[in-house]
Amino acid sequence: MRFGTTLSVTLTGSSHGTSVGAVIEGLPSGAPVDLDYVQSELDRRSPSHRKLATMRKEPDRLLVRSGIENGRATGEPIVTLVENVDVRRAPYDELVDVPRPGHADYPARVRWGSSLDLSGGGIFSGRMTVGLVIAGAIVHDLLRNKGVGTVAFTRSIGPENWEDPATEVTIEDLRQQSRANEVGCPDPNAALRMQTAIEEARRNGDSLGGIVEVRVEGVPPGVGEPFFDPVESVLSHAYFSIPAVKGVEFGAGFQAARMRGSEHNDPFYIERGEVRTRSNRAGGILGGLTTGMPIVARLAVKPTSSIAKEQDSVSLSRREPVRLVVKGRHDPCIVPRAVPVVENFTSFVVADFMARGGYL
Ligand SMILES: Cc1cc2nc3c(=O)[nH]c(=O)nc-3n(C[C@H](O)[C@H](O)[C@H](O)COP(=O)(O)O)c2cc1C
Repeated sequence: MRFGTTLSVTLTGSSHGTSVGAVIEGLPSGAPVDLDYVQSELDRRSPSHRKLATMRKEPDRLLVRSGIENGRATGEPIVTLVENVDVRRAPYDELVDVPRPGHADYPARVRWGSSLDLSGGGIFSGRMTVGLVIAGAIVHDLLRNKGVGTVAFTRSIGPENWEDPATEVTIEDLRQQSRANEVGCPDPNAALRMQTAIEEARRNGDSLGGIVEVRVEGVPPGVGEPFFDPVESVLSHAYFSIPAVKGVEFGAGFQAARMRGSEHNDPFYIERGEVRTRSNRAGGILGGLTTGMPIVARLAVKPTSSIAKEQDSVSLSRREPVRLVVKGRHDPCIVPRAVPVVENFTSFVVADFMARGGYL
């Protein structure tokens, strides 16, 4: 449950345990930490702040047990947690024997048997991402002081997509606009269409997936660790750890496979003495190292597996078919809640890379 090299995050707790949280190690002593910002990012992830989301009501008050004094890291491990207050186990009793299609129940049961607490999804729950948000929000000021900013936003939900406007949108605009509505899409009209699609899926007892896009600006060129820790590899490792993420692409991504070199290459030029590229199909990464252009990644998030429709499953003990109706409180779409998780965890990975390369 530990990720990172010079900076690391260790996740603690489980969905229906007493708490969830993170232990963050490696922050230089004296590094500024804005705990109000960390709390605001937890609020953004919390379902209690969304009409469309699961009805599980968690206040997610940040508790810091050690490692931060007077807004600065002390250099000790930073021990954080939030308490789980809204725990309802009963809906999960049946799932000990009857796994939900599309969830982690079946392979986790085979691996760890019935002693494993899968109530609320256990360690496979989206609730574990509280620790990822805390870890990334804690390094926000450290990165900002180095001129690095990250934004994630909803690119699409189900069939509803947001296309980039003709004029370039700054990362600061994207941050503000994506925080202005429930679905995390920078465009209010597209956001409305996405919201309607989610409501319709919910009414039908179903769910929707979508795409989260993330951009990081201000990372200097040359960050990354050959041979086995290219920036794409480590970011992908981080992204695939986020529950429900099923695909990742950088820059032109899978479109690159259809292009010629002359179409895909990003031509260099000089702007105010700095080397830039006219396009960014590389997604800000060449040879696993940053180019100084924005890092751009897109993550495919699957539709929530716990749906209200009756589904085919099996009894693991009786070895016979069972028709399953999943109970409990589930989001009809994970994408809006994944947005702050992707944004903050990306910041954390970038901070770790910069610490490894001596840039922090
Ligand atoms: C923020 C967040 C919230 C989630 N909420 C739910 C949920 O309410 N119900 C559900 O079935 N899955 C939810 N998930 C996804 C499951 O945890 C995930 O699909 C499951 O662990 C199986 O892993 P996989 O989809 O990566 O294969 C959520 C994921 C995230 C990131």
